[in-house]
Amino acid sequence: MKTITEFKRMKAEGEKIVMMTAYDYPTAVFAEKADVDLLLVGDSLGMVVLGYASTVYVTSDDMIHHGKAVRRGAKDTFLVVDLPFGSFRGSEDRILTEAIRIFQETGADALKVEGADEVLDVIRLLTKTGIPVVAHLGLLPQSAAVIGGYKVQGKTSQAALKIIDEAQACEAAGACMVVVECVPHQLTQKLSEAVQIPIIGIGAGVEADGQVLVFHDLVKYGDHKLPKFAHAFSDAGSVVLDGICAYTNAVRERNFPNEKHQFNMKEEEVGNLYG
Ligand code: KIV
Ligand code: NA
Repeated sequence: MKTITEFKRMKAEGEKIVMMTAYDYPTAVFAEKADVDLLLVGDSLGMVVLGYASTVYVTSDDMIHHGKAVRRGAKDTFLVVDLPFGSFRGSEDRILTEAIRIFQETGADALKVEGADEVLDVIRLLTKTGIPVVAHLGLLPQSAAVIGGYKVQGKTSQAALKIIDEAQACEAAGACMVVVECVPHQLTQKLSEAVQIPIIGIGAGVEADGQVLVFHDLVKYGDHKLPKFAHAFSDAGSVVLDGICAYTNAVRERNFPNEKHQFNMKEEEVGNLYG
């Protein structure tokens, strides 16, 4: 398994880091076969797998349920699990109880938290406890309702400098990596230069030290709209829909099952069936 040390070396030597989300066992198996560097059990699972309108309905139990499945499928890939909405707020005791439960039960290698400001204390607390933390800056989907939707962040130099400050503060607080979402690529370049830890981009341009995409976007699986920054590298959705339609037709036309799929009784036993 590639570790944080390896990811830092990759950044230093300009080798791109490949990350994608996964929410279940078969996807994890495929990702490991494809030599993906890191997997993220993102709370995006609320939207692409569970059909919620946003990520705020996802619970720690959801993260554990899916995180365990991904771990079983990819035992040898660095695994990051998102701390879901609300799970890292409140007293230190509550935050630690939730984080330790998710970390232990999923067998994750790191946990990811959205935001800076008061979240810096969370990064420090978890790191001090022995849980590696991935920060998440730029567009914060868990706060979309407050900021008024899913919008590009850091477009002015002032807003961009704030995100750079945040990344440096996350690094100082102990974060081992930063995911930056939906920011101008010129900011990403500066971000990468401003910290030693890898910057993993999504909608952040090629300048990031690595990229992350949502599985259901990158293989186009589902009925959701692809964000502008995503690219469908295959069309799993139409393959799956074609398969289901072919099955439906075959059953209705009595073409499935046929003799290849059925079991036989001896002739004499068939005779006995009818007395
Ligand atoms: O939940 C998720 O999929 C994420 C990525 C967009 C980074 O946090
Ligand atoms: Na997320």
